[in-house]
Amino acid sequence: MAYNCRKFYKRKKFFLVICCFVLPLYFLYSHSLVKEGPQSLKKTCSCETCISDRGISRWFDVRFNSSIQPQLTRRNENIPQDILLWWLGLQSRHPRLSMMYSRLFEVMPKFNPIKNGHSCNCRRCAIVGNSGNLKGSNYGQLIDSQDYVIRMNRAVTKGHESDVGKKTTHHFMYPESAKDLEPNVHLVLVPFKPHDLLWFANVLTNKNFFLTHRKLKGHITADSNKVIIFHPGFFKYVHDEWTEHHGRYPSTGMLALIFGLHICDQLLVFGYGGDRNGNWHHYWENNRLGGAFRVTGVHNATFEMNIITRLAEIGKIQLYRGTPAAS
Ligand code: C5P
Repeated sequence: MAYNCRKFYKRKKFFLVICCFVLPLYFLYSHSLVKEGPQSLKKTCSCETCISDRGISRWFDVRFNSSIQPQLTRRNENIPQDILLWWLGLQSRHPRLSMMYSRLFEVMPKFNPIKNGHSCNCRRCAIVGNSGNLKGSNYGQLIDSQDYVIRMNRAVTKGHESDVGKKTTHHFMYPESAKDLEPNVHLVLVPFKPHDLLWFANVLTNKNFFLTHRKLKGHITADSNKVIIFHPGFFKYVHDEWTEHHGRYPSTGMLALIFGLHICDQLLVFGYGGDRNGNWHHYWENNRLGGAFRVTGVHNATFEMNIITRLAEIGKIQLYRGTPAAS
């Protein structure tokens, strides 16, 4: 009898433990799962599909970090040591970073030209690389119909409007690829080294700059209120998460495309990829012997193109490959 009683109390204790601890934990767990399900499928914009919506591709979700800031500002100028070391090692070391920052922030806009959050609920963008596959493509109207049109380096529109359009809202460049811009265009400076920041601060304000490289422009025309400085931390994020250290660092085209993923809800991609014979040329040039981009090993064009193709396959971007006639 005593034995049965002990057994009974043991069982009671067991049920008590289940009721007090295990059931509430199970309830919390299942509740959080239910909550996470619809949350992960929550729409982040009012387009039919939104780039930053989660739950569509695991490959994308593990890479895409929506909290990272693409732009360098006074608020995030303190670059973590690992990022700084990586960035300084890209081309050359420069110890006077803080002096460059103060010079740079003097000429930078006081407000943030990349609006945080979305003032418009569905931002449609086109990014236009410089590939010769744009020749004869007739994409001009489609490109110009987007809210943002992102171009890069020495891209020209004049004389190529029917293929590449004429609208530009953002233009990516670095000192060696700099060009004058129309008013109202966001100049997005990609600093491959700290010296690029100093060069930029000076040329924008017409200050004399000691040109270490004769090919650098001594002045550029651009709206200083619309300047965006590409953040070295975002640069490293692209290198770590997207190009996964293939190539020494990502190309301007890749940096601009990932930037586009972060500021747009929908992204149409034009002008990426060599032609079908592997030629690497620009749509405004006749030269088909380019190829430098592929062979330098600085960037890995094949790996970058694979990322772009994959993004298109999972529906995060729409890729326009140009016309066969252009190849
Ligand atoms: O040649 P450039 O660097 O000015 O081109 C800008 C970007 O356009 C490149 O970084 C690359 O991503 C893309 N591009 C391309 N195929 C080409 C030329 C350029 O994908 N033939």
